[in-house]
Amino acid sequence: MDIKSELDLRVKAVDKALERRLPYTDNERARIYEAMRYSLFAGGKRLRPILMWESCRMCGGGWNDVEPFACALEMIHTYSLIHDDLPAMDNDDLRRGLPTNHIKFGEAAAILAGDALLNKAFEITLSEKYEDPSRALRAAAVMAEASGTEGMIGGQVLDLESENRRVSSDELKRIHSLKTGALIRAACVIGGIMAGADEEAVKALGLYAENLGIAFQIRDDILDVTGSEEELGKPIGSDEESGKNTYVSLYGLEGSERLVREYSDKAVKALSVFGERAGFLLSLTEYLINRRR
Ligand code: IPE
Ligand code: IPE
Ligand code: MG
Ligand code: MG
Ligand code: MG
Repeated sequence: MDIKSELDLRVKAVDKALERRLPYTDNERARIYEAMRYSLFAGGKRLRPILMWESCRMCGGGWNDVEPFACALEMIHTYSLIHDDLPAMDNDDLRRGLPTNHIKFGEAAAILAGDALLNKAFEITLSEKYEDPSRALRAAAVMAEASGTEGMIGGQVLDLESENRRVSSDELKRIHSLKTGALIRAACVIGGIMAGADEEAVKALGLYAENLGIAFQIRDDILDVTGSEEELGKPIGSDEESGKNTYVSLYGLEGSERLVREYSDKAVKALSVFGERAGFLLSLTEYLINRRR
């Protein structure tokens, strides 16, 4: 099966699980559920759940082993996007092909919808019954750290603080690996943990994902310049407008393309310990770094 068809199937499975985890709710708080579901079901690529699933499968587990964490991480990712788009942050009005959450529901509701998705993520993972609760506890800690000040939020802070001033290449790498790399790394590491993989495998997954995360965000920077709003479902030119430091502003388009290749080569190399079992992740990596959306 080609990677596109395989991904379509997996996206469907993830969407089905998310629907069950955050169903349509019609009580006196219907509006907050509506705002949460609006962004969650706006059609993301579901990259993080799929990476988690595949990392788990590669280490001998399956979808059921990671389903709560996969849904949770996608909720955290979606919350990060809702807040990232707010006027006080990147001030964008289009996301996943739809008006951003604050444009549709207002700023206060968008802030609360983001907060609520973050809390729902921990509610889901911590109220599940697990065969081996120690794995789940470790996975929850990984997820919390990756989302917080030593992970995604830390990266977002550095990203905002570096607006309109020039940062070094090391600083930019740090920003990208935190704001984007951290959740991608958590996806893969949690996949390994929930499969009961040995430490060597978990480490290899972490190394793979760290490099993939940087390559993925460099591609995001490139697409902000060369992409189309229709394909991306978000505005182009947003980075320049906000005075962001990006790989394109620091290295130019050609230099950025070269670096995408370099980091994805490093990512791929980290998968060598998995031998033939890494087939799907290898295709996925190639697909992601060449993506148009
Ligand atoms: C967008 O992430 C934000 C970045 C970290 C680059 P994705 O490109 O995975 O967005 P969705 O989930 O497909 O909308
Ligand atoms: C996003 O980086 C990182 C997040 C943690 C959300 P960007 O600000 O470049 O993401 P997009 O381009 O708005 O999706
Ligand atoms: Mg941003
Ligand atoms: Mg943004
Ligand atoms: Mg971007």
